Amino acid sequence: MKILVTGGLGFIGSHTVVELQNKGFEVVIIDDLSNSSEEALDGITAITNVKPHFEKLDLKIKTDVQDFFKRHNDIAGVIHFAASKAVGESVLEPLKYYENNISTLVYLLQELKGLSRKNFIFSSSCTVYGQADELPITENAPVKPAESPYGNTKQIGEEIISDTCKVNEDINAIALRYFNPIGAHPSTEIGELPIGVPQNLVPYITQTGIGMREQLSVFGGDYLTSDGTCVRDYIHVVDLAKAHVVALQRLLENKNDSNYEFFNLGSGKGSTVLEAIQSFERVSGKVLNYKIVDRREGDITAAYAETSKANNVLGWKTQLSLDDAMDSAWKWEQKIRNK
Ligand code: UD1
Repeated sequence: MKILVTGGLGFIGSHTVVELQNKGFEVVIIDDLSNSSEEALDGITAITNVKPHFEKLDLKIKTDVQDFFKRHNDIAGVIHFAASKAVGESVLEPLKYYENNISTLVYLLQELKGLSRKNFIFSSSCTVYGQADELPITENAPVKPAESPYGNTKQIGEEIISDTCKVNEDINAIALRYFNPIGAHPSTEIGELPIGVPQNLVPYITQTGIGMREQLSVFGGDYLTSDGTCVRDYIHVVDLAKAHVVALQRLLENKNDSNYEFFNLGSGKGSTVLEAIQSFERVSGKVLNYKIVDRREGDITAAYAETSKANNVLGWKTQLSLDDAMDSAWKWEQKIRNK
């Protein structure tokens, strides 16, 4: 069965391609390589012994998208990762984010309507909840006004899909709201490749651990949490990738309760920044150079997932721990720096 993975050479996309191929799906990847590398193709091939079909394609070029679907009208499902994801950049270049993340989604859904099997999985984010009033965060928590254009593209993306599903009853879609994906494949064949100075915590930790960065700044030590630092729900990217396969199978087997569903994907466990650092120190045997500095603008105090909907309805739960994720991220960092 042929599955299209957009952004399939990126961080979460490449891990999902591996899990799809492990389950016997035929994968077609499209990616514009704007924030990924073709080397991920070799990594996927090394892990699975199958080289997925890859086309370099820019989803913003509508005619190219139309041409692609003409050639691949036997696609049974689309998993849509391709998007820009840097929160700070989105504030400076909002139109880039609306073009990259919204126009592409519209073009894809327009083509999906012409397929005989119309199954769609969307990469969403816990950012849609903002600072939720209650923790853990359930799927019923209200969507709060977005803090950034990036976050807004995820909210608008969900609305576009929901509106489309209302009038196209033969389209089946699932939005997956990720908490904080981290880690790498245990084989160290694929992982995260941040360009420039990492904005996210774990790549910053591992780059500091390996000596590329002098010191990690811990943003804020005066939050109302157990140790004063922010709480997040870190989820191993391999667990996250597996959830996409489970969600796709739900659609392919017509097990969905309605034609538009959404699920939180998290471990259900909140960890502070200092606990994440301790995890790194445990698995690496290194002492991390860090300093508590001022809060980062836009950060929320705490977010972690209520996972029972994903556990009970989707039939998925995380199997790997924060230490597993940190260990794999550290091994990946060592591999890419030694290259
Ligand atoms: C961020 C985005 C989120 C996006 C996700 C993508 C914001 C507000 N949220 O989540 O929308 O989906 O990235 O991966 O930007 N930290 C430090 N020092 C650092 C880096 C981070 O202390 O150098 C802290 C942060 O304050 C935060 C935690 O580590 O408490 C996690 O930060 P990060 O990895 O950037 O993820 P989020 O901000 O949760």
